[in-house]
Amino acid sequence: MSKPAQPARRETVSPMLAALRAGTREHHLVLERHLNLPGRIRERADLAAVLAALLASWAPVERQLAAADWSGLGLDPRLGEAAGLLRADLATLDADPADAVASADPPGVRFDSPARALGGRYVLLGSALGGSVIAPAVERLLGLPEGTATGFFRRSGRVPGRDWRDFRRAVAARDWSTEELREATEAARDTFTFVGRAAAPILGDRDADPAAA
Ligand code: HEM
Repeated sequence: MSKPAQPARRETVSPMLAALRAGTREHHLVLERHLNLPGRIRERADLAAVLAALLASWAPVERQLAAADWSGLGLDPRLGEAAGLLRADLATLDADPADAVASADPPGVRFDSPARALGGRYVLLGSALGGSVIAPAVERLLGLPEGTATGFFRRSGRVPGRDWRDFRRAVAARDWSTEELREATEAARDTFTFVGRAAAPILGDRDADPAAA
């Protein structure tokens, strides 16, 4: 299940979004294989490990993105934040992510320009598209009622479709230089790599090198 080469829906794709999609396709594929969802989920503990692994990157990246400058784009600095949903799902599973999250390295990704911040936000927001596919499969595998411990994947209580639309519109509403397209794509790639790096030890894949795309 990979990001489609062409968008499945009829939509206008701005040059920035096209650059982000093309520039991160391979990184998404590598991360998708690494996370192996829902394939790695056999019992609740597997789901708890995945959620803790995602929280280890989501929490610090969201913190950095909230502190970035979004004034020029007119976007909420906290658009689509989902670390709280990961924590709530973990609590539902009686899992305490404290150690895993505390041991994660800082992202080491720069979000110090509007283009770079946008690249990071693209990765976190875009993940909700895959999450909507993963959630029902996980619920089926574990016999969970809809939305139970899958609030993050479903973005329960949020409106991920609207967030994604707002993001796309804000991105398309201004012109970006070639250098900004490059910056955004680099930050998005680095974000994908960080998500994989933070997840590896928690998922017991210490030797995996998700960055080796
Ligand atoms: C195994 C786990 C994953 C699966 C199966 C998966 C699957 C998908 C699918 C099917 C789409 C396309 C959805 C559509 O166009 O309607 C998608 C898009 C996307 N996913 Fe994932 N995904 C996974 C994990 C992730 C993670 C962890 C991230 C971020 C860290 C992520 C970021 C994105 C982004 C940025 C898009 C592209 C949005 C766009 O440009 O249209 N995905 N994913």
